[in-house]
Amino acid sequence: MGSFGRLARRAVETDAPVMVKMQELLRGNKDVMSLAQGVVYWQPPEAAMNKVKEIVWEPSISKYGSDDGLPELREALLEKLRRENKLTNSSVMVTSGANQAFVNLVLTLCDAGDAVVMFAPYYFNSYMSFQMTGVTNILVGASNPETLHPDVDWLEKVLRENNPIPKLVSVVNPGNPSGAFIPKPMLQRISELCKNAGAWLVVDNTYEYFMYDGMEHYCLEGNHIVNLFSFSKAYGMMGWRVGYIAYPNEADGLHAQLLKVQDNIPICASIVGQRLALYALEAGPEWIRERVRDLVKNRELLMDAMSPLGEENVRGGEGAIYLWAKLPENCSDDFEVVRWLANKHGVAVIPGTASGGPGYIRVSFGGLKESDTRLAAERLRRGLQELVTEGMAQ
Ligand SMILES: Cc1ncc(COP(=O)(O)O)c(C=O)c1O
Repeated sequence: MGSFGRLARRAVETDAPVMVKMQELLRGNKDVMSLAQGVVYWQPPEAAMNKVKEIVWEPSISKYGSDDGLPELREALLEKLRRENKLTNSSVMVTSGANQAFVNLVLTLCDAGDAVVMFAPYYFNSYMSFQMTGVTNILVGASNPETLHPDVDWLEKVLRENNPIPKLVSVVNPGNPSGAFIPKPMLQRISELCKNAGAWLVVDNTYEYFMYDGMEHYCLEGNHIVNLFSFSKAYGMMGWRVGYIAYPNEADGLHAQLLKVQDNIPICASIVGQRLALYALEAGPEWIRERVRDLVKNRELLMDAMSPLGEENVRGGEGAIYLWAKLPENCSDDFEVVRWLANKHGVAVIPGTASGGPGYIRVSFGGLKESDTRLAAERLRRGLQELVTEGMAQ
């Protein structure tokens, strides 16, 4: 036990963050190209960055702001939610990214001992948010191996029969790490099941703009639904830490409880980040879509590079920035495969175990420009080809 005896079990028993493990793996290994972290290669809109340069000495930038977020940003977000997401009955709280938004919700909606639902492969940080807040009764449903859509029949059974009835159901749409998009009728069914069972439905829309092949993103609204959003990927603002929660106006008492959590974690999201977010909104969705369109080529290059695994084993990529691939049967230790790919072939991907999918890998097609993606794809192809034909030869 050592010094662990003096640490909170909540923390000790929470999974280690895979991105930190990846950073350790890559440290000192300069020649590794990363298809690992969920990032985009672009920076925020130029005009927005230039405006921020002008305001850094304004005194308000260095003061605390309203816990809920800057009024002018919240107003712009309500308008965006109405226009783009058709959410007309929601209020907004600005957070330090969608991850903090999720922690706020878990602390506001769940008690230790409550049961909650996720679907594998799941977003690792959501899983950890439950664990570290003592919500360890995490029921993990399966996804259809072909479509990667959640098993809604299982959910129906769990919401009817589990003791206790789950308090919250969490989905990411489109998904991380699956890259799968839940069709509207399916999410509507999930929503109805949650409503009837008295459970919350939390939908993480971080990748709302990352849609391909003519598919259109949508949101659902209801008194039991909370939607999360992020500026990180859409506007290339990962390091500025801005996201937001759209929660139902009429959910009794929710705002007051959310405020308590908000006031104790960030107090408010970074003011300069919020100002950049406000200016970025002026660039609008077309600015984002132009960049997202370019990712289609990256996706194609990487899908092609993964063909040694067999076409039927490479899934996802309908939305978000991820492909999800099954490794050959003899490669159940996906972390070893990831280590080997990095050390021998100079390319990094994420092990599926981190998302409840042992024997899989997640490949991101958002973080590199096309020319670099091409190089990384060649490395990946060589690595996977060798893996399939010879195994992990050193
Ligand atoms: C599904 C999902 N939610 C939230 C986040 C974190 O977003 P933010 O940077 O806004 O905290 C990520 C980042 O990878 C994500 O994939």
